[in-house]
Amino acid sequence: MKPDTILAQAGSRRDANTGAISMPVHLSVAFQHPALGQSTGFDYSRTGNPTRQALEQTVAEYEGGAKALAFSSGLAAIDAVMRLFSHGDAIVVTEDIYGGTFRLFEQFGRPLNLRFLYVDTSDTGAVDRALRSPGVKGLFVELPTNPLLKVADLAALGKLAQARNILYIVDNTFLTAAACRPFDYGADITVYSATKYLGGHNDVLGGIAAAKSDELGERLAYLQNATGAVLGPFESWLLLRSLKTLPLRLKKHEENALIVAEFLNRHPKVKNLHYPGLVSDPGHAVLSGQSGSFGGMIAFEVDSRARVEHILASVKVFMFAESLGGTESLVTFPVVQTHAAFDADTLARLGLTDCLLRLSIGLEDADDLLNDLSAVLD
Ligand SMILES: Cc1ncc(COP(=O)(O)O)c(C=O)c1O
Repeated sequence: MKPDTILAQAGSRRDANTGAISMPVHLSVAFQHPALGQSTGFDYSRTGNPTRQALEQTVAEYEGGAKALAFSSGLAAIDAVMRLFSHGDAIVVTEDIYGGTFRLFEQFGRPLNLRFLYVDTSDTGAVDRALRSPGVKGLFVELPTNPLLKVADLAALGKLAQARNILYIVDNTFLTAAACRPFDYGADITVYSATKYLGGHNDVLGGIAAAKSDELGERLAYLQNATGAVLGPFESWLLLRSLKTLPLRLKKHEENALIVAEFLNRHPKVKNLHYPGLVSDPGHAVLSGQSGSFGGMIAFEVDSRARVEHILASVKVFMFAESLGGTESLVTFPVVQTHAAFDADTLARLGLTDCLLRLSIGLEDADDLLNDLSAVLD
């Protein structure tokens, strides 16, 4: 079946006992053994839960991977993936990555003796040079980056990773496999903050790590069970329900984002606009070739921190909050929210200024979004 069909029927046909079209929420923690040495396939809910399994199998199927694992948050999924590496390994990482991922790597990866080499992954040559450093065993790419929306050439990086036989991991939170399919470009693992577009309604915290091969999938399943940060049954059900409308939601997020980006592009108070859907954006051509959507995220600068504060205090349709990918449009101030873990020098080097705002464009009527932005910018 095609991905849209798999998604529309997420969780259906999985309960032969009742024929339930919506997967039941199995709250049971323990499962009765038919006899000594026998199992229904479920023993204890951390190891396997029927509702979570329905979600994990659906994601693995539409993602085109061998196995997917659902975690209690995106960071829990990334933490499990980080634990695939060993003492002394180096990992090349997107430099303007989500601040929480950076904090996890720096605060908890370094003490495990992992080394992280941060590069601009939209520059394939820079990645190639970094991969030649001693001990590199992995490449971790966020696409597009958070918050500057830079675009990496997934296929070109896939070839580099394959040539060096290293683990190629893509954080596909912003686009999802409904638009961009990293496994088709050589990725070994995809990770998601399912809290964002997969959940889509700002009401479920979750994470996914999906593996292309059985072998990696089994290692991740072992880690998931051993470290225990699994997604609960109710959250799993919420995600199954959300997946059914993912392709539709993505289309509308993108449609609205393009209207907002074009408006901002013309606005005299807006500078350094980042939206890969605009033909003028440096990532446009590469993303057109590897994604069916440019997504719903926009970043831009205004002339002063005072204007940022005015915007955050005055928006009436957008809400000042720290997340993305839901039906509601949100405005985020990266340097004090999502990227507060970066030190001042790193923020300056990456161009993350206190004049930069990030918008997550929701599913509202675009006219209301434009009127809101117009009022606060003028
Ligand atoms: C790109 C990206 N990856 C990972 C995460 C972490 O996910 P979570 O907040 O679900 O732990 C986030 C959160 O904002 C994110 O934006």
